[in-house]
Amino acid sequence: MNPSTQPSEHVIQEVLSALPHERAELLPALDALNGRLGYLPRAAIEAAAQHFRLPAREVYGAATFYSMWSVGAPPGEGVCLCGDGPCHAAGAEGVRRALEKAGVEVRRTSCLGQCGRGPVIVTGSLLYRQVTPRGINAILAGKAPKPLAPTDEIIGIEVEDRAHALLRNVGRIDPRSLEEALAAGAYQALRRALTEMTPEQVVDEIATAGVQGRGGAGFPAGLKMRFTAAGAKSADGVAYVVCNADESEPGTFKDRILIEGDPHQLLEGIALAGYGIGAHEATIYIRGEYTGPAALLEQAIRDAEAAGCLGCDIAGRGFDFHIHVHRGAGAYICGEETALIESLEGKRGEPRLRPPYPTTCGLFGKATLVNNVETLCNLPGIIAHGAAWYRQTGTEKAPGTKLYPVSGRVERPGCLEAALGQLTLRQVIEGPAGGLRGDAPFKACHLGGAAGAIVGPGFLDTPLDFGSCQAGGAMLGAGDVVVLDAGTCIVDYVRAVATFFRAESCGKCTPCRVGTERYIQILNDLVSGQGTPQQLGELTSWGEVMVDSSFCGLGQTAPTAVTSGLSLFREEFEAHTRGECPAGVCRL
Ligand SMILES: Cc1cc2nc3c(=O)[nH]c(=O)nc-3n(C[C@H](O)[C@H](O)[C@H](O)COP(=O)(O)O)c2cc1C
Ligand code: SF4
Ligand code: FES
Repeated sequence: MNPSTQPSEHVIQEVLSALPHERAELLPALDALNGRLGYLPRAAIEAAAQHFRLPAREVYGAATFYSMWSVGAPPGEGVCLCGDGPCHAAGAEGVRRALEKAGVEVRRTSCLGQCGRGPVIVTGSLLYRQVTPRGINAILAGKAPKPLAPTDEIIGIEVEDRAHALLRNVGRIDPRSLEEALAAGAYQALRRALTEMTPEQVVDEIATAGVQGRGGAGFPAGLKMRFTAAGAKSADGVAYVVCNADESEPGTFKDRILIEGDPHQLLEGIALAGYGIGAHEATIYIRGEYTGPAALLEQAIRDAEAAGCLGCDIAGRGFDFHIHVHRGAGAYICGEETALIESLEGKRGEPRLRPPYPTTCGLFGKATLVNNVETLCNLPGIIAHGAAWYRQTGTEKAPGTKLYPVSGRVERPGCLEAALGQLTLRQVIEGPAGGLRGDAPFKACHLGGAAGAIVGPGFLDTPLDFGSCQAGGAMLGAGDVVVLDAGTCIVDYVRAVATFFRAESCGKCTPCRVGTERYIQILNDLVSGQGTPQQLGELTSWGEVMVDSSFCGLGQTAPTAVTSGLSLFREEFEAHTRGECPAGVCRL
């Protein structure tokens, strides 16, 4: 419905009266109100406060936390441009200059999960990928964006036996068809678990398979399930599964491809996890910008419930399991598991102190298993074929496959799936990614997402698995590979990364709130030729403060790109303090 066709008080009344008064409904209510009204006027905040019996200041605090909502006034005219690392490497600055020259107001947006097809802009509700300065006239004239099929973004499946690949069905089945998913084997593992295995056996099988969490830290999935099952048993027996599909880290777009290409694989994985830990409810927390994937999941859940694959009394075994989809509203910090839980409870997404961990005290104080999309997609294969089968792929310490989202200055950016540890960074770049784009040689790679380290040519022969990357002084993280060529100015690049962290710091703790701001001031000075040698020391000392004393992983990893870039390319930083940019990028 067009926001302008109904008086706003009717819309507010209509939205709120359809919702229960529980606090957890506050964010869905604000989302619906923002969607219907185009923004959140004071009257909507006050009415929501009344409906949920909260002080208006608390509703206002929650509403202003999330970047997708506009509080107090409609969003301004103009275009949103993503300038985060991968889009920056792909030429976002040139697009910004062209837009400004055309008289368009350019607003910043954080990463939109399309990093393999940057630079990305959004006008109104339309998203354009691979935008060039020359292409903006057509966009401004209203030319429709090119649609993308999930397979367009897959650059390779380097897995000996395709049955092991999580992407095996992508492009082969219609993701909207439960029948095609069933024909490809969907829900057989769940049926097997319910008919032949106890919950403990399911957890044991996953633990024996040795699958490491794919959300960034590589924590053993089986162990986390054991902790959660034990956490529930030692309390009132209630447990929840939360699937983390927030995927807001610049450089990461793998979970979207898994969802868009094969949603039932994920739903089955979530149900298996639920059976293992004794849960009957799960929530998929999906980033707000993924409207299409969220709708696809909702439809897939409805279809699976109607067919008895999910819902009540699954496979006639008396197991009830319901999956809900919750859309975020624009906040990278909500990928952090405790911030995500706060957000699900209807609050600002500020991290909680750990311990207690979610495994004992998570959503609504209950034992909660939080796992990444890719992690959960591994479970059906493990339960259908067994842990020994699963371990045939990957290495002893890092079994299974991994999705690697590749972006930046390569010929073929996109998502690669390979056996863990099978390919080195060089093999990924020179093989599926098609080598460097253009004539400039390799300079560096930003590995493992915005929170990861910048690595140089010395890292090229490191196998891409959790342990090997760590031994080499970096983190594999979510597997992101952002390739930078010799035309890249590292100081300018890390400024783009630091801009992301400053925008996304939740502000709860001082080291991160102030440190990310100070980083930007210094890096702005350096790229404009105003920096001093003393400021390089300040980058290091602020980095130490943030790592040592930030409250959560965001602040603790925010300096990584800057400090690793500084230690690898110190002479380039020093040149900027003399007013020189060796790459010729900064306008000093
Ligand atoms: C700032 C921040 C953002 C994060 N974003 C995500 C995310 O988008 N997706 C994700 O799965 N994990 C993310 N994580 C990690 C989660 O906190 C959590 O460890 C993960 O979801 C656990 O899943 P796994 O065990 O399957 O890896 C983030 C962590 C931090 C500190
Ligand atoms: S480290 Fe940053 S994101 Fe984390 S709680 Fe502190 S201010 Fe918030
Ligand atoms: S979409 Fe621009 S960095 Fe991800």
